[in-house]
Amino acid sequence: MRKKIVAGNWKMYTTTSAARQLAREVVAGVGNEQGVQVIVCPPFPYLGVVGEALQGSRVALGAQNAYCVREGAFTGEVSPAMLADVGCHYVILGHSERRHQLGESDELINKKVKLALDCGLKVILCVGETLQERESKQTSQVVERHLTTGIAGVAPAALAKVILAYEPVWAIGTGHTATPAQAQEVHAFLRSKVAALWSADGAAQMPILYGGSVKPANAAEIFQQPDVDGGLIGGASLKAADFLPIVQAGIG
Ligand code: 13P
Repeated sequence: MRKKIVAGNWKMYTTTSAARQLAREVVAGVGNEQGVQVIVCPPFPYLGVVGEALQGSRVALGAQNAYCVREGAFTGEVSPAMLADVGCHYVILGHSERRHQLGESDELINKKVKLALDCGLKVILCVGETLQERESKQTSQVVERHLTTGIAGVAPAALAKVILAYEPVWAIGTGHTATPAQAQEVHAFLRSKVAALWSADGAAQMPILYGGSVKPANAAEIFQQPDVDGGLIGGASLKAADFLPIVQAGIG
């Protein structure tokens, strides 16, 4: 049985004090719960304070991005080795905001995935189509490309450290959640592709999260789908009062 995962992507929000407070509230709310893996991904400058607040808790620390080189003269970039060094266990890569607003290519994302895994991080690899792509019936093609190029050249042992996140671009921050059936359809398709690229066992073990306007009111219904293993939560991860009921939905 795959354990559910609920990850908060705080994007470019919070301040030092708000990040510390939110992390403390999440820790208190999660307590000793072992039925779900909770992850929070604050902005880079707050990894330290949030990491401190998470000490001794069951909530894991993740980052929202990493560069594709371990160290060097790359002004402004952050190495996945540094993220591991400051206590991150996870990193989100291939988020649509980075693909579409910052121009990240499939090739760049693949380099980042490989290095992050090499540095000991678990990777939350995001895939997802735009509205135009969905309307022109290219959803499968696009998510398959994101998946295939994202994990190209990753050794089977390292694939066990990859978590997929299906995030339809049209559902992110819009309030238009994919229906449970739409999410399930794409998740099942992704799992079948992982089985073909890797192995049936590997595919059965790989967590596939859904992201895009997940709220307390719709989380349970989405998480109940057989191939949905939890969520990657944006807006609703910024308030413990919204995030914790979503965590609860992950416990079932
Ligand atoms: P929202 O939950 O705000 O739609 O964001 C989803 C997302 O992009 C998580 O990575």
